[in-house]
Parts: sequence; C-alpha cells; structure tokens
Amino acid sequence: MKRSVRIVEVGPRDGLQNEKTNVATADKIELIDRLSATGLRSIEATSFVSPKWVPQLADAAEVLAGIHRRPGVRYPVLVPNEQGYARARSAGVDEIAVFTAASEEFNRRNINASIDESLQRFVPVMERARADGVAVRGYVSTVLGCPYQGEVPLADVVRVARALHDMGCYEVSLGDTIGIGTPGKARAMLLAVAQEVPIGALAVHFHDTYGQALANILACLEEGVAVVDSAVSGTGGCPYAKGASGNVASEDVVYMLHGLGIETGIDLPALAETGRWLAALLGRETGSRVGKALAAS
Ligand code: HMG
Ligand code: MG
Repeated sequence: MKRSVRIVEVGPRDGLQNEKTNVATADKIELIDRLSATGLRSIEATSFVSPKWVPQLADAAEVLAGIHRRPGVRYPVLVPNEQGYARARSAGVDEIAVFTAASEEFNRRNINASIDESLQRFVPVMERARADGVAVRGYVSTVLGCPYQGEVPLADVVRVARALHDMGCYEVSLGDTIGIGTPGKARAMLLAVAQEVPIGALAVHFHDTYGQALANILACLEEGVAVVDSAVSGTGGCPYAKGASGNVASEDVVYMLHGLGIETGIDLPALAETGRWLAALLGRETGSRVGKALAAS
C-alpha cells in the first residue's frame, strides 16, 4: 500500500447535488472554507451542469466567488459540456472534471447522451482546457453495476476509463455510483482498468449503499491506489441513479487510513467537526460512524 493517500472531498458537489433541503449559498461557502482548513488538498466545489437538471447547484458561480482559496488546495468542478466549461472559466476555475459512465442507459438519463456522444462532447472541452492550462479529471460511473442495465461488463469500464485517460484526463475516478460492489469485484475491476491506465492515474469513488465502501477501498489500496473520493458526513447520491445513497464518509476513510499508518495530511477531529456541522445544517445526524464516535468520546 502507498504510504500517503490523497482524499478528494466531493461533499460540496456530490453531497449537495441530491439534497432535498435548500442549502444557502453562504452555507456552501462556509462548508468549503471549513473543509479547506482541515488539510484537504482537493475539494470538489460544485458543478457547472444545467440548473434545470440540478437546481441544487445553480449557484455555482456565486459559491466560487465567495470561497477563500487556500494555497495548495485544488477546487475542481464538474463540467458536462462546452457551455459548462465557459461558465466555469468565467468563475475562475483552474481544474474541472468531465463525467460519463460505463453503461448506456445511466448515461442517457444522467447527461442525455450515449457514452460515445459524451466522449465526443469532451473533445472540444479538453482542447480548450489544454490551451488554458486547466487540469482535467475524468469520472466513469456505474463501474460495478448500473441501476438500469444491472451487470456492467469489465471491458466497458476499461474502454471508457482508457478513452478518458487517452484524451488527456490526468486522473480517472472509478465510480460505484449505486454502492453495489463488494471487495473482490472492486479489486478485479481496478486490476482490469490498471492493465490499460497506470494505477497512479486512477482514483476510486464508492457510494456506501450496501455498507461495503470501506472494504472496497481497502481492497483497492492493497492494489496500490493512492487517491480516494469521499464526502464529509457521508452525504451524496446522484439524482439520476435510482437507489443511490451517500458517498463513503470522509471521516471514516481518514480514520481507516490513519489506522493503517497511511498519511493524509488531514486533521481528523476538525474534519469530523465539519461533518457534524453539516449534518446539523441539513437537520440530521452525521452519516459518519467516526464522526458520531468522536463526538461521544
Ligand atoms: P440537455 O437538456 O440534453 O442539454 O442536457 P442541451 O444542450 O439540449 O441544453 C438544454 C438547456 O440546458 C439549454 O437551455 C442549455 O442552454 C442549458 P434552454 O435553451 O432550454 O434554456 N444548458 C446549460 N446550462 C448551464 N450550464 C450548462 C448547460 N448545458 C446546457 N453546462 C446536460 C445535457 C449534460 C446539460 C444535462 O443532462 C446535465 O446538466 N446533466 C447533469 C446531471 C448531473 O449533474 N448529474 C450528477 C453528476 S454525475 C454523478 O453524480 C456521478 C459521480 O459522482 C460519479 C459516481 O458516483 O458514479 C460523478
Ligand atoms: Mg458519486
């Protein structure tokens, strides 16, 4: 296992995109600023998708205008097309993430395009990003199962991950969108992708619907992955993935990593405190077991 792991905190984006509660712009800004103070190095701040599709993040530009950017912290945003890229650039973004899936029906429902159409859509975005010196991350969703199609062949995951890497994504995040995977399958999927994309350019992104996320992450760490996506307080879910629940909680991942002697640079008590603050804002208990345990201790 690697001695150091980078957490990509996706709470402000994946966490809030599916919330029924209306979260005020000022609270989103405070969330990101609190996260910035915990030692996190990557915080996915928001999405420049269509506000008709995801009204929760319609205030993306205002959020970015309000945050205090800490030196050394990256604030990537989701971008689905050239229109999103232009909006993100006007907001001063220097890192974006493009996203597609390994299964057709999910992709159609999520971004209204086939997989190949979405890859084509990214070509001009990648060209503009390269010219502007903007770093691009890529996401592949439904890598361990699709809510509409069921099983997803490994070859489809490998093909899409490789296409994103080949077009210039510096990192490809493999998403178990509906949290259905188990460790053996997660390991096999990762190893299949790692045949075509260097493991150093891969990240894992687990939702915790079936309580398997930490076990899946451990299996992938054992194969050499060094980047893990997670959301503070275990918020999250994709509005276009039936049955998807929250991301694995960042606090729980960091606790496990520190217990394994793996360095993250993150102040766990401060992260857990931010998770409880967010949960209170959303009117519920924190979704992090570690967050609860630390509060009680
Ligand atoms: P479409 O309706 O096919 O797009 O949506 P369109 O090009 O026909 O445009 C329709 C309208 O949207 C037009 O406005 C456009 O101007 C506008 P109108 O003329 O009707 O007034 N529009 C935009 N407005 C602002 N920003 C934009 C933009 N693009 C078009 N960027 C589209 C296609 C991709 C836009 C839409 O399907 C969309 O926004 N989808 C995003 C869905 C989403 O955000 N899902 C969640 C993120 S993915 C995820 O959570 C998974 C992940 O976490 C990994 C995992 O867990 O697996 C990453
Ligand atoms: Mg997700």
